[in-house]
Amino acid sequence: MIIITVIFMTSLPPKQKHDHHTLKFPDNFLWGAATSAYQVEGNNSYSDWWDWEVQGKLPASGIACDQYNRFEQDFDLVKNLNHNAHRLSIEWSRIEPKDGEFDHHEIEHYIKLLKVLKSLKITVMLTLWHFTLPKWVADIGGWENGQTVKYFERFVKRIAPELGEFVDMWVTLNEPGVYVYQGFVERVWPPAKKSFFGQVKTILNFASAHKRVYKYLHKAFPKKEVGIANNVQSFESYHKHSVAEQVAVIITDIITNHLFYFLTRGAHDFLGLNYYFHVRFKQGEGLMPEVTAASNESRDVSDLGWEIYPEGLFGVLEDLSDDLPIYITECGIASTNDDRRNRFLITYLHEVYRAIKSGINVKGFFYWSLIDNYEWHRGFEPRFGLIEVDYKTLERRIRPSALVYTDIIQHNGIPHSLLRFIGHTVQAEDVLEKRYREISKEIKESQKN
Ligand code: FCB
Repeated sequence: MIIITVIFMTSLPPKQKHDHHTLKFPDNFLWGAATSAYQVEGNNSYSDWWDWEVQGKLPASGIACDQYNRFEQDFDLVKNLNHNAHRLSIEWSRIEPKDGEFDHHEIEHYIKLLKVLKSLKITVMLTLWHFTLPKWVADIGGWENGQTVKYFERFVKRIAPELGEFVDMWVTLNEPGVYVYQGFVERVWPPAKKSFFGQVKTILNFASAHKRVYKYLHKAFPKKEVGIANNVQSFESYHKHSVAEQVAVIITDIITNHLFYFLTRGAHDFLGLNYYFHVRFKQGEGLMPEVTAASNESRDVSDLGWEIYPEGLFGVLEDLSDDLPIYITECGIASTNDDRRNRFLITYLHEVYRAIKSGINVKGFFYWSLIDNYEWHRGFEPRFGLIEVDYKTLERRIRPSALVYTDIIQHNGIPHSLLRFIGHTVQAEDVLEKRYREISKEIKESQKN
């Protein structure tokens, strides 16, 4: 009998060990969040965007999150949440409200602000242009006019020597392609113009602006990396065997994800990727079938209707990876349901982890956004923040997802316990349990000091 039992037991497969390890990210990985000046500062009244607001063509941004005055408080939160990096931008229209007139007071403001980040030992990624232009630049035709390239270069050459010592990485331009799409195709942003040649000129001017500024920054700050933040999207065909859909995928992918890099090849120290979209092309019926983006109706979407599709992030990372390091310069969800943000963080970061495991050199992740803010033509309704902003009192409230992110940062990876978020209806408190209380306590105490 004993012999039989022994034979039986030894013939059983070894008990599988469940892997409880933290999914570790590389050492020195940058963990942070991103914002842009116009969306958080408030009162950027010398810009083209503001001018449109005054004309009633766009929702009013007013004092936005008043970060212009509250940056110290916000950066303390950055530190308390354990972020080791932060991406932010400066507002050209503040610094140069009139052609060639630079406002010293505003330059001092940005120096002060960056000094605070540096004193907190935060790695600073600074964006030099994030969608808005000084009104005087827009009046001469904005990016459609080649002069703007020279004006932008003059601006950067004036401001970079003042700010450079507090900046670790430069982003010259944010999402040139999105700007062209919203301004010339959708026409919901300035310049809201229907002009094919306008689009082409704008893109070429962006490329030339980036190359010039890259060259200058690279020489002036040889130790600091320079790049752009490009909106990249995951494209797929609805039907596997539809040639028309496949062609749509290839063409759109080239234009959206590769064209700008091609036009500016050799002028990047890193690839900055902003990832939000997954698009499936669907062919309609008829002789000359139109191929359009399929509706997201049946999909899991954010409050803005943007599909939640973490696998797409892996796909674009794989597709774009080459010799250059990659930073995910923006990635986030608009949702008033914070549990969804927890799941978002875990599932998207899990894809980043997989990409790193498969040899792709991803060096940082910036969640969009640190705080709720002015979401361009959509106003204040979309809630992207790790931190909630009460727009009546401007009070900041740390959302539970911010603590989940902190837990990840403190582990420099995704602790196994957090993988439970992948199931639905799980709340931060359930998963973090004791950790949740500990992190909240740590933050409260550091805020008191
Ligand atoms: C990106 C923008 C950023 C923000 C997010 C939601 O395209 O760069 O300013 O609006 O989308």
